[in-house]
Amino acid sequence: MTVTEVVAALIWEGDRFMICQRPAHKTRGLLWEFVGGKVEPGETKEQALIRECREELAVTVSVGDVFMDVVHEYPDLLVHLTLFHASIAVGEPQKIEHNDIRWITTAEIPNYPFCPADEEILCRLRSFSKEAKHMRVNFGPKPICYPQPVFILAAYDEKGVPNAMNAAWGGISDDEEISFCISAGHKTTKDILVRKAFTVSMADVAHLIPCDYVGIVSGNEVPDKLEKCGFHTEPSAFVDAPLIQELPMALECKLKSYDPASCRLVGEIVNVCADEFVLTDGKIDPAKLRPITFDPVNNAYLVLGEKVGNAFQDGLELQ
Ligand SMILES: Cc1cc2nc3c(=O)[nH]c(=O)nc-3n(C[C@H](O)[C@H](O)[C@H](O)COP(=O)(O)O)c2cc1C
Repeated sequence: MTVTEVVAALIWEGDRFMICQRPAHKTRGLLWEFVGGKVEPGETKEQALIRECREELAVTVSVGDVFMDVVHEYPDLLVHLTLFHASIAVGEPQKIEHNDIRWITTAEIPNYPFCPADEEILCRLRSFSKEAKHMRVNFGPKPICYPQPVFILAAYDEKGVPNAMNAAWGGISDDEEISFCISAGHKTTKDILVRKAFTVSMADVAHLIPCDYVGIVSGNEVPDKLEKCGFHTEPSAFVDAPLIQELPMALECKLKSYDPASCRLVGEIVNVCADEFVLTDGKIDPAKLRPITFDPVNNAYLVLGEKVGNAFQDGLELQ
């Protein structure tokens, strides 16, 4: 499907912005939208917006910066919508094209059914608004944050039998250090204390079921837990702990400390290893690894991997 370039105007009057209701006989009839339309061949986006505002509202606008741009796929149309800040330089808006025109605050957004392509823009508008802050809901002290990792901790017991558990409460705590909160009663915790070493594999989409299994069944009751879920292990070359062959990326760690009262376990990262097939240009590629993250609110696993920005770089825009 070819991309149709569409422009629209975000026009403010005090704390209200203008929205227009599409006519009933057109596609997406009676839904609300920002004034604007398609960019014609040979036009710049700014020129197209000025023309559309003349045709649809009989006003002349001066066009400012881009507020936001979004891509949206309708059944009949793939739209790239660029929303510009704009102000009315000449004229009073007339309902030449639209069924209705309203000026609304961001708090009133939920009262109007909008065209689907505008949804992301409206979310952003609401997040900027003072009213949105008043709508925060308190959930009390809970172990909720996003994203939460899904780590698979693995260790050998005193007889050399490998075991593993799922751990979401953990993260990097220094240059070569990782910390977790794991209960003293888990078989894996006991094994880590015996061998003073463990590996931390990233749970991935491809092995979601066994990764969940090792988090709901204990090696205390099921000694061949890893075999049961189809995981195979090999000894790490760096520490006295098993690497799970099926999971393509792992940290190999030595035990630094464990405090049974707080359940705080700290490990020294001795090595990081990854299978070649999850690398691009020699670097770990999250799009190939497809690690999962734990959603503690909905008890769900979500996938990671889509790049949406550049760290240590994109913020420089505001400097
Ligand atoms: C999504 C998920 C996250 C978990 N996170 C933790 C955690 O951070 N700390 C912990 O002590 N147990 C956690 N668990 C529970 C252990 O993985 C579970 O009790 C496991 O059966 C222990 O296995 P083991 O006794 O064989 O070591 C989690 C389980 C799941 C499914």
